[in-house]
Amino acid sequence: MDIQAFADRRARLLRTMGRGVAVIPTAPERVRNRDSHYPYRHDSYFYYLSGFTEPEAAVVLVAGDAPQTLLFCREKDPDKEVWDGFRHGPEAARDTFGFDAALPIGSLDEKLPELLAGQPVLHYSLGHDAEWDDRLVAALNRVRANVRNGAHAPAEIRDVHVELDEMRLIKDAREIDDMRRAADISAAAHRRAMRATAPGRFEYEIEAELMHEFRRCGAQAPAYSPIVAGGANACILHYVGNSQSLQDGDLLLIDAGCEIDSYAADITRTFPVGGKFSPAQRDVYELVLAAQQAAIARIVPGNAWDAPHEAAVRVLAQGMRDLKLLAGSVDGIIESGAYRRFFMHRTGHWLGMDVHDAGEYKVDGQWRPLQPGMTLTVEPGCYIRAADDVPPALRNIGVRIEDNALVTAAGCEILTAAVPNTVGEIEALMAQD
Ligand code: GLY
Ligand code: MN
Ligand code: MN
Repeated sequence: MDIQAFADRRARLLRTMGRGVAVIPTAPERVRNRDSHYPYRHDSYFYYLSGFTEPEAAVVLVAGDAPQTLLFCREKDPDKEVWDGFRHGPEAARDTFGFDAALPIGSLDEKLPELLAGQPVLHYSLGHDAEWDDRLVAALNRVRANVRNGAHAPAEIRDVHVELDEMRLIKDAREIDDMRRAADISAAAHRRAMRATAPGRFEYEIEAELMHEFRRCGAQAPAYSPIVAGGANACILHYVGNSQSLQDGDLLLIDAGCEIDSYAADITRTFPVGGKFSPAQRDVYELVLAAQQAAIARIVPGNAWDAPHEAAVRVLAQGMRDLKLLAGSVDGIIESGAYRRFFMHRTGHWLGMDVHDAGEYKVDGQWRPLQPGMTLTVEPGCYIRAADDVPPALRNIGVRIEDNALVTAAGCEILTAAVPNTVGEIEALMAQD
């Protein structure tokens, strides 16, 4: 494993911390029911600094004149390894992942007070895991209990996620490589799903095609619960039941992306179950595509985060007026927010290890400027629920088109461009056997 990127990130965090001790634990294992666990997923901040994917572990960084990087992890346990598989153990973990030292996780409660004593700042993000919060408070209290012997507990607790969020916002070369792999596999899965779709098949059968392609290509998991929504289900934004049969004449909206080596893709395509768009479906589809193209044209370094959204909203507002979904001027539709009846979410979000990735959207009250190395989704939509004031041909049409963009020096690169998105390309793909 190439560990340099992880070591570089630890070194960078140590520099920005200045003084103090950082504690970044991984995620706990969670019971699903009785003896079954949810599939384990490590914490993204922890992974970012370690590359280590075992549960029951924490990164501890000691900043200052003699900085130290420590990994606490499970010890080797031949009996447990028979049942649950390989554990590195501290010694091998230290060497493989390039820490200064690694120690058994069982020694953390004893070591933490020693590490914290005399330090000015504890860098830790409170409020994500009550057990870890209690553990840190207990360690602080053990230092405080020693005050009469001259011990000093950290006077300050600083949220270490704030600095890490800024770092995670700009992807390094290794991350971009991982995101390309996630995008490529997810794109292949969408093409497979399009080819497999036909009237009479069930949403879950198409979900199975997606999952098959993800795993076949080595992705560990879907990055989020796939949405496979036929007909009116496309107007339910977080529809994940995926239980209905697909009807000729309906559209199918698929929002699915895989996670590979901790990085996510997040793609949506909407296409006709029977392979041909109806005129009304085509109108809505081409409106959303035009909104997406307008948004993508605004993904340029220096533009504000909100610029793509504003561009998409303007195109959609005009289209909603043209389709007689809304009346009044385009400016009026935008200012009043009337368009939100049919487009109620934003045009994108940061994308990375988490599908809704880390990073602030505003800085000092202003939408932050886009910078090379940022990765985001571009996902306008139009969801027309049946209602008396909606033209009959448009009722129950829901369309979203979602791609993943990497901000470059010149503008952006669409990482997910390998999935067809024009009416002609989609109809041609679906016409293949
Ligand atoms: N799939 C989640 C989203 O599009 O934000
Ligand atoms: Mn999505
Ligand atoms: Mn998304």
